[in-house]
Amino acid sequence: MTDKELMELLQSMSLEEKVGQLVQVTGDALGENGQITGPLGSMKLNDEDKANLGSILAINGAEKLIALQDKQMAQQPHHIPMLFMCDVINGFQTIFPIPLAQGASFDPEETSKCASIAAMEASAAGVHVTFSPMLDLCRDARWGRVMESPGEDAYLNSCMARAMVEGYQGTGKHGPVDREHLAATVKHFAAYGRPEGGRDYDTVELSERTLREDYLPAYAAAVDAGARLVMTSFNTLNRVPSTGNRWLMRDILRGEMNFDGVLISDYSAAEEMVNHGIAEDLSEATRLAMAAGLDIDMVSNCYVHHLADLVRKGDISEKDLDEAVLRVLRLKNDLGLFENPYKAACPEKEREITLCPEFRQEARISAEKSFVLLKNEESCLPLAQNESVAFIGPYAMNHEIFGTWSVPADAESTATIRQAIETMGISNATFCQGSFLMDNDQRNRFGQTFAQDIDQAEKWLEEAKAAAADSDKVVLCVGEMNSQSGECGSRATLRIPECQQHLIEEIAKVNSNIIVVLFTGRPLETKEITKYAKSLVVVWFPGTEGGSAIADVLYGISEPGGRLPMTFPRTATQEPIYYNQLPTGRPNPSGHDLPFLNGYIDEETTPEYCFGQGMTYTTFSYSKPEISGRTLKKGGKATLSVTVKNTGKRKGTETVQLYIHDIAASVSRPQKMLKGFRKITLDPGESASVQFEITEEMLRFYDINMQYVSEPGKFDAYVGGSSLCQDKVSFTLE
Ligand code: GLC
Repeated sequence: MTDKELMELLQSMSLEEKVGQLVQVTGDALGENGQITGPLGSMKLNDEDKANLGSILAINGAEKLIALQDKQMAQQPHHIPMLFMCDVINGFQTIFPIPLAQGASFDPEETSKCASIAAMEASAAGVHVTFSPMLDLCRDARWGRVMESPGEDAYLNSCMARAMVEGYQGTGKHGPVDREHLAATVKHFAAYGRPEGGRDYDTVELSERTLREDYLPAYAAAVDAGARLVMTSFNTLNRVPSTGNRWLMRDILRGEMNFDGVLISDYSAAEEMVNHGIAEDLSEATRLAMAAGLDIDMVSNCYVHHLADLVRKGDISEKDLDEAVLRVLRLKNDLGLFENPYKAACPEKEREITLCPEFRQEARISAEKSFVLLKNEESCLPLAQNESVAFIGPYAMNHEIFGTWSVPADAESTATIRQAIETMGISNATFCQGSFLMDNDQRNRFGQTFAQDIDQAEKWLEEAKAAAADSDKVVLCVGEMNSQSGECGSRATLRIPECQQHLIEEIAKVNSNIIVVLFTGRPLETKEITKYAKSLVVVWFPGTEGGSAIADVLYGISEPGGRLPMTFPRTATQEPIYYNQLPTGRPNPSGHDLPFLNGYIDEETTPEYCFGQGMTYTTFSYSKPEISGRTLKKGGKATLSVTVKNTGKRKGTETVQLYIHDIAASVSRPQKMLKGFRKITLDPGESASVQFEITEEMLRFYDINMQYVSEPGKFDAYVGGSSLCQDKVSFTLE
């Protein structure tokens, strides 16, 4: 349709039709069963409400959506097609590592490939829009949704943001989202990742400077990459719920970020403004949401029951309503739905490409790139094929290795670690359950608990100890349950279940060659684990080919490619803890000096493992960094170079990281800020020079007057294999 035709359509629509375009429901409102991603409310739709519906979420399947579209268009007065939206977060049927793990890969190109495959599978299944990428910067591992974010750093998250949007949408800015791609939704705008206490949906209080410096950049990068939708967040930001926050939505998002796409609320977030205490009733909540520029109201009783009345009463202008409806119609038009309401839905294509070998191979590669090797004493890894190995633990033979946002996928499509090892033809491996996954009284994010059979637990433990005693090495496959993280999966502790801790300690009594493979959706406390282990590799929730990827990495067929995208604390009580904190007036670099220094009397201030940290099966050395000029002029740039050498015996890939420290400015600046990274693969003994451009632009920040500027002064540029790097070169900005 041309814009003229869209305007004519808009002008011919009734008020009720216009409202309908702004209402989104779950499938159960139409008698369809789909994924439930929020509290099941009761929307009480009448037939006219249903006939006018503009979009639906969490339903997929080509045949089902083709039929649903036909039914809907037949009853919609102008036969306007619906939008079908789903949470395609880290894959659709072929599941990739959770987004936090993809952040660990420090490989935006790989992430983009995963997003494009997810888009192909989902669009063949009739999906038009994905509620991804989630770009909430997160610094508190207690929050369950850290699994869904690329991590704690604004620069890394911004790189991943761009990569995911381009992977999903496949076209340049504002181009039509073609057949094999999805419209992307940036979420959750804004700063949802900083809830008080790490408790999901809790209050967010941030200075505008911290909001702009740390939390907004990744959203802005995704909008700049052309994301077609943005989703509001559940939280209040400085006491104003995002969904009714005019400053955030109209001034920042639509004004400064120049976003002209569709703004959709999170699930029932509009009506939750009553709970937040800024709306007395749903009618007031409706008015606030529309005033903030909310286009689509997801699963709430606001727009569907109150918007038309407010327009009739003149409390909301029909002009504002028309602007919102036109943005939704434009999105449908850009997706080509007026010409082909089924877009790419195709049962045959869906069957042909879902979980095809090429997609599985990419899932395997992306998993290997995401694993983080944090300890490897005596080169306990990689395993030799002639070593006898006991694989023990609740994840040794477990298909449930997806993250929690992988609902359409079938866990049985994954290869377990055992299946992968056996497929490799490894003969001297044994496999034991070892323990239950969860403790008796432990709850997951749905509040479910898991009864333990004590006799069974004892039997499993005895079997495991016997197998361990009879093996050269033991691989303990342990970790959180996948539903201990994700939405409403916040935890006050960060330990693995005690039954698994007990298993580790018992196995350590009969075999000291222990390798821990840790499944997790978040940073965990590891010191009680690693004290019994020679090696620790974090595999997150690695997805469909996770078992195969783990087998490849354990036997050295490939190497663990990841670096930590989030800090791992010593204890949960250190949270929030992250690498780029401000220096304070009494810094405590050692982490434990007293008195009168920043820190605790009963715990270190330093974390267990730092942002950017991770090992490979070889080692690398760095030359002292050099800079092309010690003085940088405004608008100028300098080249920083460093020589990296593979000093080990195996080919390996290093993630070279550039950090900048602004020594003194009009406001206090973080001790280090990631400003670049490069992955480089070297043969044993091989060296290569790595360059980074240092520009005046990368030195800009919000100064004492909240102006986004750079300030003359001294800077240190650090280069190394993690945020712990100390090799630096100093320069001055004139
Ligand atoms: C959920 C999540 C959001 C998701 C939406 C639709 O509550 O907060 O990330 O996209 O509802 O499922």
